[in-house]
Amino acid sequence: MQGLIGPPDYSQEPSRHPSLRINAKEPFNAEPTRENLISSYITPVEFFFKRNHGPIPLVDDISSYNVSIGGLIAKSIQLSLDDIKKLPKHNVTATLQCAGNRRTAMSNKKEVRGVGWDVAALSNAIWGGAKLCDAFKLVGIEYNTKMTPSGGKHVEFISVDQCKEEDGGPYKASIPLHQASNPFSDVLLAYEMNGEVLNRDHGYPLRVVVPGVIGARSVKWLDQINIIEEECQGFFMAKDYKMFPPTVNWDNIIWSTRKPQMDFPVQCAICSLEDVNTVKPGQVTIAGYALSGGGRGIERVDISVDGGKTWIEASTHQKDDVQYIPDDISSDKWAWVLFKAVVDITEDTEIIAKAVDSSANVQPEHVETIWNLRGILNTSWHRVRLQIAP
Ligand code: MTE
Repeated sequence: MQGLIGPPDYSQEPSRHPSLRINAKEPFNAEPTRENLISSYITPVEFFFKRNHGPIPLVDDISSYNVSIGGLIAKSIQLSLDDIKKLPKHNVTATLQCAGNRRTAMSNKKEVRGVGWDVAALSNAIWGGAKLCDAFKLVGIEYNTKMTPSGGKHVEFISVDQCKEEDGGPYKASIPLHQASNPFSDVLLAYEMNGEVLNRDHGYPLRVVVPGVIGARSVKWLDQINIIEEECQGFFMAKDYKMFPPTVNWDNIIWSTRKPQMDFPVQCAICSLEDVNTVKPGQVTIAGYALSGGGRGIERVDISVDGGKTWIEASTHQKDDVQYIPDDISSDKWAWVLFKAVVDITEDTEIIAKAVDSSANVQPEHVETIWNLRGILNTSWHRVRLQIAP
């Protein structure tokens, strides 16, 4: 019997924290409450959002688990978990964000297809594991390789979960070889999350973590790594997680005209408040998260308490006792920042938050301008309404 198995049904799902907001039961998709999401910089495992496309795999016998590296290379190998643990260990703090984060708000403007998510389809963890680029050295792929001698330019990750979209086949995705083999990209084969053994929901025994990129490429329950010529043609690369213009609909879509989404754009959301709140006149705390893809830091988070006429700057932080400086060596480049501002409210109003990243990219004002039929990457200004208690 193989070490890792993708079950055909949902009879052996792990238990989960009762406070999670369940957006779909089978496959299990859930996010923490807004308040729980920003209660700490590192998200506790039980509050970490869970995004699945099939039943959660099981490990029958960990000693027989191994992952293969094959494809367009001279010689394939099989690595056990112990082999991977013998490689240099790295801890990388990285926020995983699902491309569907904030989809419900996009859907409220005009219908989109996909699981509805509020603002918490993302979480931040310390991932422990080996760098993929170090595992590659075992098969003769050097750091910063763009192409193998036999023409491999992409790295495909294949799991074992049985996904409906793949007609019962496994989840798969790929990233470019130059990114996978670059030690500064920090692409991990992770076996730990927040210092603990990875749990089943998050990919036990081994998952890929691709920092700065939409969560869909961080394949859980890793079974195979293949060096391939072109991008992986799996459903979630070829027919999902692509960004189309607002004019494309389900009748005129041509999936092959767009590249699979990789880096995510600048994003922020208020989590100390719900969409509509009733408050007493006086001080109100506006707190939330901001992040950008590709390792870009957060330059500032602007808050408006008058529907966007005037703005103040929120304070931003990551780790306790370390001043957050975007793109500085002291900051976690792949992780979110938490922000906070305390404002005085005297009348009914709309509060807005928008972030600017270190490349001066800013969130779009209106969701309509970025509406797309799959409802991905809703990064529009985040708005909440405050009503003064009668
Ligand atoms: N890997 C496998 N094997 N199966 C999946 O369904 N979902 C992907 C990715 N990796 C998925 C997967 C998506 S869309 C996201 S956003 C992240 O895992 C979510 O990771 P998490 O559940 O650990 O938060």
